[in-house]
Amino acid sequence: MGPMGSMQPKWVPTRETRTAMSAPEPLLELRDVVKAYTSTAGADPMPVLRGVSFAVQAGETVAIVGPSGSGKSTLLNLIGALDTPSAGSVILAGRDLAGLPEAELARIRNCDLGFVFQLHHLLPQCTVQENVLVPTLAISTPDAGGERAARARQLLGRVGLTNRLDDLPGRLSGGERQRVAVVRALINRPKLLLADEPTGSLDQDTAASLVDLLVTLNRDEKVAVILVSHAPALAARMGRTLQLRNGKLEPLI
Ligand SMILES: Nc1ncnc2c1ncn2[C@@H]1O[C@H](COP(=O)(O)OP(=O)(O)OP(=O)(O)O)[C@@H](O)[C@H]1O
Ligand SMILES: [Mg+2]
Repeated sequence: MGPMGSMQPKWVPTRETRTAMSAPEPLLELRDVVKAYTSTAGADPMPVLRGVSFAVQAGETVAIVGPSGSGKSTLLNLIGALDTPSAGSVILAGRDLAGLPEAELARIRNCDLGFVFQLHHLLPQCTVQENVLVPTLAISTPDAGGERAARARQLLGRVGLTNRLDDLPGRLSGGERQRVAVVRALINRPKLLLADEPTGSLDQDTAASLVDLLVTLNRDEKVAVILVSHAPALAARMGRTLQLRNGKLEPLI
């Protein structure tokens, strides 16, 4: 840092200054996000996130690592509009989530974001293809020409499940179920895929191939990926890794 470095005021570019600099607007930006939970009635809220700021560009892949209980799922829930910060902002595609009505947040969760969790959460009584199409059911426009069903079949083919379209999830292996969950998360062409320990219930080799699949789909579908993982080898497959520790998020060196 030069002699002037420490004297620079903290400066956050606005949409206008970014345009003037022709820097791309990030897909996602967190500004000084704080999250505190109140554990028992009357107790002071416990801060889990103590001022988290970072940005993700469109199409990027980012890993988030950190000890158990450090707040990784908390962070992903805030990014996914499943919870709200105690302070600070979550800005997706230039819009502060705090300013949006619930109906728009629901649309964002369904169309702009995709979620994959440790457990697949597939509907046991629906076939693989039906499960993949669940997120399309909330879209009011009809599936003209069967485009969504065709995309479901195409994506399921890409993950090696062409022969399992009509199977129930109970007949699939753990790795196959997670591949279905990934396809379901991508069916509406989201801009950002949020994956919280998606390999947590898989063996090492199956976990590695699932993360390889995320990398391939990131490239082919141009979807940005935020992957939470305990495994350094899996995190290393992402473009960069951030570590959550003591409520702060820092680049892992
Ligand atoms: N709804 C909640 N109410 C109160 N405390 C919560 C709530 N959700 C999470 N916490 C607490 O916040 C802290 C962070 O939890 P979080 O689930 O985000 O951690 P994590 O990094 O995802 O951990 P893991 O690696 O085990 O999944 C923990 O101490 C947890 O007990
Ligand atoms: Mg977690």
